Amino acid sequence: MHKINIAIDGPAGSGKSTVAKEVANELSYLYIDTGAMYRALTFRALQAQVSEQDEQSLIQILKEMEITLEQQRDGDVQVLVNGERLGEEIRTQTVTAKVSEVSAHRRIREEMVARQQQLAKQRGVVLDGRDIGTYVLPGAELKIYMDASVEERAKRRHLENIGKQRPSDITTTKEEIKRRDGLDRERPIAPLQQAEDAVRIDTTNRAIEEVVVHICGIAREKENED
Ligand code: CDP
Ligand code: CDP
Repeated sequence: MHKINIAIDGPAGSGKSTVAKEVANELSYLYIDTGAMYRALTFRALQAQVSEQDEQSLIQILKEMEITLEQQRDGDVQVLVNGERLGEEIRTQTVTAKVSEVSAHRRIREEMVARQQQLAKQRGVVLDGRDIGTYVLPGAELKIYMDASVEERAKRRHLENIGKQRPSDITTTKEEIKRRDGLDRERPIAPLQQAEDAVRIDTTNRAIEEVVVHICGIAREKENED
């Protein structure tokens, strides 16, 4: 048996982070939430009143940020920036509204990808994001592309917001998801797309556990391949 690397990509609300967390837990792997890294940068840029268009200032902010993803006992990931814990503040609507523009810049992506590849060197990692199978870990032994209808994804995000007592409205949530999907899919650098060798899983009508069992089954087969 040998550890493999698992890449999970897909649009917002397709179930990537929930599933990635559980798969990592099941296989005793490390879960790396790459979206949280882009969100942390966006949060810091907003704090510094730097425009999402200002690539030069954004890269400067990023270079001064040491981002650590700390795995909690419950499998959740705690983001630390220069030792300071960031929680709900990286998931606000304000951050969500700007994160796709911030992450579209070439130099930002180059820096983030280099950091993510460094984290994956130890092997036995599950990374989720938009460009993992295509750019970050093109050699990952297992690539998953998760999708679900936009209605279902908006409903999930809305319910999640309500559960976490964040202000939410289903129509606005759906519009925001569509807008972000469009930006992530159409950006010139590392757009969201399915890698040729990825396994596609439509989670619209599938329970989380079912998807986790499916992925762990394939992962265990790969772990036992020569
Ligand atoms: O959880 P949710 O699907 O809402 O988003 P996320 O995974 O936290 O990612 C937030 C944003 O970061 C995405 O909409 C992308 O613009 C960007 N992102 C990216 O460009 N590349 C990644 N590998 C991960 C996230
Ligand atoms: O990471 P991503 O944005 O792709 O989605 P997520 O944050 O993992 O999932 C969004 C919400 O959908 C969470 O509240 C999950 O519990 C829920 N979900 C679901 O109901 N059924 C699935 N098959 C996957 C996720």
